[in-house]
Amino acid sequence: MTLQTWIDLVYLLAAIGFILALKGLSSPKQARNGNLLGAAAAAVAVAFTFLNPEVRAHTLNLVLTLVAMLVGAVIAVPAARRVKMTAMPQMVAIFNGVGGGAAALVSIVVFLIAAPGKPAVYRIAEVLFGVLVGCVSFSGSAIAFAKLQELMTGRPITYPAQQVINAVFAVAIVALAIGTLVTGSVPLLVATAVLSLVLGVIFVLPIGGADVPVLISLLNSFTGLAVAASGFTLNNNLLIIAGTLVGASGMLLTRMMSKAMGRSLANVLFSAFGSVVTATGGADGLGETRPVKAGTPEDIGVLLAYARKVVIIPGYGLAVAQAQHTARELADLLMERGVEVFYAIHPVAGRMPGHMNVLLAEANVPYDELKEMDEANPEMATADVALVIGANDTVNPAAKNTPGSPIYGMPIINADEAEHIVFLKRSMRPGFAGIDNELLFDEKTTLLFGDAKDTLSKLVAAVKDA
Ligand code: TAP
Repeated sequence: MTLQTWIDLVYLLAAIGFILALKGLSSPKQARNGNLLGAAAAAVAVAFTFLNPEVRAHTLNLVLTLVAMLVGAVIAVPAARRVKMTAMPQMVAIFNGVGGGAAALVSIVVFLIAAPGKPAVYRIAEVLFGVLVGCVSFSGSAIAFAKLQELMTGRPITYPAQQVINAVFAVAIVALAIGTLVTGSVPLLVATAVLSLVLGVIFVLPIGGADVPVLISLLNSFTGLAVAASGFTLNNNLLIIAGTLVGASGMLLTRMMSKAMGRSLANVLFSAFGSVVTATGGADGLGETRPVKAGTPEDIGVLLAYARKVVIIPGYGLAVAQAQHTARELADLLMERGVEVFYAIHPVAGRMPGHMNVLLAEANVPYDELKEMDEANPEMATADVALVIGANDTVNPAAKNTPGSPIYGMPIINADEAEHIVFLKRSMRPGFAGIDNELLFDEKTTLLFGDAKDTLSKLVAAVKDA
């Protein structure tokens, strides 16, 4: 067997590793192993790439590659280790962006090497695809990062004729791409790259900060496609497979997230969602005048301690308060008293896919205590207490009852069916969708105001005393 055959065999095994890794990532129990398997497959594949005689023939390039890898690792490893759970989406955005940028650069370099001769049209098409999609992904991800990192406003940035201007840019890029395809001209390719960078920026500006995770998933899919295109350009099967897997899984995740939010992808991308707050309480929560029932930790502690079945519904506020450990403490305490407790997880609770699963896993909540929305909902009518910790939109009955509401059609966790509903939140401020939640005013509902970590600690003490 030749060395090249060995390398191809390792690539094949790595590709199988990637597919099994994705399978693992689809369940919370196997996600960690899946992640490790994917990383190991990528590491082995990269190591074997260095054995390729063609790679080793270019010593200077080899040294530059190793230096670049070292610089990347020195930046990325501590950044990934230190990142806070709530800052994960922006880290994914920036890592994804550099992936797209790298794919675009690889395509450009291959094109430059071929110049001044005109490469075959299909070769130019591969390069163009990598450049266009990679550049949009790079600059779009950079803006997504800036929005989430609050380096710029997270609100949608809109201006007159915005979508028309975006469409004009898209048409100009297509025209330049056709020009490049016909002439093989380097300046035209560079112009395509520059306009694609601009398109990435203006495409992301009108998308509201809290919709950005869906956008990142889409851009991630774009990066995968750009990488697959550079795989064709470089004749590298593994890049083609890995890029296609990222492209397909990113697209599926994007669709699943939009569906779980009850919105079309077009609505997420083009409606500037989040620019208007319609809640009567306003964005600051101070305008609301209707009465609500506020409870004390002691009353609610007794309610929980003597319940038969308590369903904990976590949301974005749990992440903000970093209250996952205290939530688990309360749940364990109730279970010790014989109360049936489980966590009901909405697919888009929080601000990123799997947000609640990751937080609760960090607090070592056993997986069998988590129930997905579809599994949890049939049990809501028999729950004595729905304990809503920092969730709002994902339990808002307007999604079922109010046609015309921005969240109408979004599947929710039916907290309203429980005998008692307890909300832990700081104020009457709305959730991400910026709309009122009638459940807060329901006579079955009690509110316990305060930071969730603090109110949960008080509930733990109250249950102990009950
Ligand atoms: P939200 O509807 O955003 O509500 C979060 C609630 O947490 C708010 O009512 C807020 O009220 C409360 N809160 C914030 N900080 C708190 C703290 N320290 N202690 C206690 N409460 C706190 O959350 P959700 O129910 O999880 O829904 C998620 C929303 O995000 C959905 O609309 C979803 O479509 C959207 N979204 C999700 C994703 C993904 S992938 N998860 C992606 C994009 C968009 P106070 O300010 O009064 O405390």
